[in-house]
Amino acid sequence: MTDTITEQATAAAAASGAAATEQFRSKQRTGAADVDTERVDTLVSELLAAAHDIVRRHQVTYAEYDALKSWLIQVGEDGEWPLFLDVWLEHIVEEVANESREGSKGTIEGPYYVPDAPRLPAEARLPMRADEEGTPLLFQGQVTGVDGTPLAGALVEIWHADNDGYYAQFAPGLPQWNLRGAVVADDTGHFWIHTIEPAPYQIPTDGSCGRLIAAAGWHAWRPAHLHLKVSAPGHQLITTQLYFKGGEHVVDDIASAVKPELILDPGPAVSGDGREVTYDFVLDKV
Ligand code: DHB
Ligand code: FE
Repeated sequence: MTDTITEQATAAAAASGAAATEQFRSKQRTGAADVDTERVDTLVSELLAAAHDIVRRHQVTYAEYDALKSWLIQVGEDGEWPLFLDVWLEHIVEEVANESREGSKGTIEGPYYVPDAPRLPAEARLPMRADEEGTPLLFQGQVTGVDGTPLAGALVEIWHADNDGYYAQFAPGLPQWNLRGAVVADDTGHFWIHTIEPAPYQIPTDGSCGRLIAAAGWHAWRPAHLHLKVSAPGHQLITTQLYFKGGEHVVDDIASAVKPELILDPGPAVSGDGREVTYDFVLDKV
């Protein structure tokens, strides 16, 4: 790698944490700040009791306590709380939230969703650069209810990283809506999305999350993935991700967000250009 490329990658990593914090503030789920007193008492008391237990069991020292304090301060200064929480905690929140669904499996949203992406017809090419790198991918399918009813006009929001693992609006230098779109399915709930296969994604290594990963001897990788939110009137929106069979880090995702039902196995495209895969979404009623 030349110095310039290293510097660009570093700049991108540093920017993405702060951008994720800004994005979270603007989209915060309603009611997030309105949790009742008894519930706060229970949850925070149990969280602290778990921490107290760890300190006793592992004889945590003042040096370690101070290292934790300075790391926590730095996570905020780096704007990396969304990254930290979405990588190491969100998968369990999602598991609890969606455990009673009968339809398609969900998984974590992660920090990089942006609402109001360009609306696109049922067959569409995602916004991308003229020379966008990566294997062309046709991602097609149908949205139905649990009883098999086609959901006409269902909304398939999709966003993903580019061939270098960067997300538009979180890494500098990418067009605003690159590889992001809101596709409206046809009258039979079908959609055909033309895009490119994303690359595996490395969570920023130059900030606080990266320091934690290095300090603990972990790796920073998520497998290549497509992010989706699929919705239709009268049905529960599902937030999910899809992965690629045999891809790097499918078996050791740092964010623990892979499920067997979410692994795509694309074949050669009928058009002869790249690969294609069919994946159908099943939405539970509200
Ligand atoms: C993070 C990034 C992702 O693309 C994702 O899907 C989940 C988490 C992160 O950097 O925290
Ligand atoms: Fe992602």
